[in-house]
Amino acid sequence: MKGHRNRPSPGMPFRRRAGIARAAGPHSTLRAFLWLLALVLILAGAIAYSIVRRGLSAHDEPSRVEEVLARTMRRLATPQAVRDQSNPVQPTPGIIGEALEHYADHCASCHANDGSGDTPIGRSLYPRVPDMRAAQTQSLTDGELFAIIEHGIRLTGMPAWGNGTPEGERQSWGLVHFVRHLRQLTEEEIARMEALAPKTPAQIAEEEETRRFLQGEASPPPAKVSPEHKH
Ligand code: HEC
Repeated sequence: MKGHRNRPSPGMPFRRRAGIARAAGPHSTLRAFLWLLALVLILAGAIAYSIVRRGLSAHDEPSRVEEVLARTMRRLATPQAVRDQSNPVQPTPGIIGEALEHYADHCASCHANDGSGDTPIGRSLYPRVPDMRAAQTQSLTDGELFAIIEHGIRLTGMPAWGNGTPEGERQSWGLVHFVRHLRQLTEEEIARMEALAPKTPAQIAEEEETRRFLQGEASPPPAKVSPEHKH
């Protein structure tokens, strides 16, 4: 019996090894965590370095990686219930007409009357204003378009237009219809928007001077009175 007690039992080596494995558990978790931390720090350092090197100028074209990341984050940040919302407003000619006026007044300065984004502001923002007639905008759901118009997009030039009232929401849903309508804009609609476009006092003065000149009331306007900033 005595000898038996001193002899290692067949299960012992296993138990001892299991004990070692249990002891190594927290260590290996800690090591993995430290590796991860080091990796994140290296990555953050690389990003910070590239920002410092390249600067924060909005002249640069956003990289494809930034674009994909931003769009993915935006999609993830929009709850499924919001994305699946369908437009509760009917696209009657009256609603489209009202949205057209709203768009010409509030959106065209960045997005252009035809939705191309081809405006001095749209081309200079970072990220750039997208061509809303293209698939990347048109493939968004009505709910996503509504959320963007109502709440804006953080860290971009896109403002939040909602004012938290049902009337404001109705107007945003009307604008969702109008964003869909951009692909089918008629010449008359564009002309109507151009007539509605807000003008700066300098532009109004220039037009008035030109009108008076054409009617023979005054001397010719100076060659360049456009307020547009040219380099
Ligand atoms: C001051 C400039 C500015 C104005 C004014 C503005 N937007 Fe935008 N908008 C932007 C920018 C910049 C983006 C791109 C943001 C991004 O890339 O995430 C954008 C994005 C959008 C998008 C998403 C398109 C896409 O494919 O991601 C929609 C829809 C939109 N705007 C609608 C509107 C409507 C409707 C109005 C008027 C009520 C408006 N915007 C007014 C700057 C503007």
